Amino acid sequence: MAGVDARIRSLFAALPSGDPRGLQVFRAPGRVNLIGDHTDYQDGLCLPMAIDRDVMVASRVRDDERVVVRSLDLGGRVDIAADGSDDPPAIVPAWGRTVAGAVRVLVRRGRPPVGIDAVVASTIPIGSGLSSSAAFEVAISIMLAATAGRPVGGRDLALAAREAGQIATGVPCGVLDQMASVFGRAGHALLLDCRSLDTEPVRVPAGLDVLVVNSGLPRTLETSAYAQRRAACEASAGRLGLATLRDATPEQVVGDPRARHVVSENARVLSFVDALRAGDVGALGSLLLASHASLRDDFEVSTPELDLLVELLVGGGAHGARLTGAGFGGCVVALVPSGSAGVIGERVSAEYASRTGITPDAFPVIATDGAAPIGRASIDHT
Ligand code: GLA
Repeated sequence: MAGVDARIRSLFAALPSGDPRGLQVFRAPGRVNLIGDHTDYQDGLCLPMAIDRDVMVASRVRDDERVVVRSLDLGGRVDIAADGSDDPPAIVPAWGRTVAGAVRVLVRRGRPPVGIDAVVASTIPIGSGLSSSAAFEVAISIMLAATAGRPVGGRDLALAAREAGQIATGVPCGVLDQMASVFGRAGHALLLDCRSLDTEPVRVPAGLDVLVVNSGLPRTLETSAYAQRRAACEASAGRLGLATLRDATPEQVVGDPRARHVVSENARVLSFVDALRAGDVGALGSLLLASHASLRDDFEVSTPELDLLVELLVGGGAHGARLTGAGFGGCVVALVPSGSAGVIGERVSAEYASRTGITPDAFPVIATDGAAPIGRASIDHT
């Protein structure tokens, strides 16, 4: 990944001076969800991909029991008791609530009150549907656990990070974002079963690039109808006598658009995986468009700007496109022929800007590995 050394150097430069041998660096990626949205909190299926936009955090143990974290891009600094006694919602600035949430969650899981100095920086656009928050939660959690000699990984890391985020924001998110950030695999999307929490990497075939276009309309889950949509799904499942909509049949949800979206989206995820394995580009494009239509019409989480971007992308040569993540603004994702992301992105951006007055941000993404410490060799080399 370009610029990693420079990023690590700027993190180190912002840390209080001390023994360079004690320095550690961790990375947690954002994600783009190729298909399978608003299914995770109904025990459903998703197909995210961890991307080459990430949160990096550098840290060093300190000799008191304070967790002191600075953010290079969000600004400010938090100074939190390492024993988890600080109340997360009371922390200022607001990003520090996630740090306090993670401290509290990990203390409950046995983390000793080891103090640290840390500096964090992100390349994930905030509030765009690319899981900037989840990557932050995962990066802080993996760092806090490892620096106290209690490393966590895999599902435990994803679940701890999600709990930290929920404590910090009160948003009842599913587990899609954190699982993608933890389990990502270079060159692969990840078939995620949110009931079993099983993951299966699925290779992204040669000849396809993944293009993301940020609509420039930020959204926050706190102010969106996310919790209302989730509650509607729970009510539908309850009416059917089911714990979640995972087991609902298409016949059972014919007259219920919200539930119909969840049931049809789960089926699309499986078809999409088949199409990826078969390299069936036509089917992939149709499934992306069907997913977008379902999110727009049945689940009602799209916006005119997201609809316009999907239309422009398809008109501009993409195989297919859809909103990605929660919706209500944020990004769309498109599959495009390899090598065409730059041209398509520029063309779509110009047309979108002229029609809406908003300058979007179009960029290709590649599938990367999930959250991990950055090796000593890279650190010493910077
Ligand atoms: C947000 C949430 C996820 C998931 C998606 C929609 O990203 O954090 O848990 O529900 O929306 O698929």
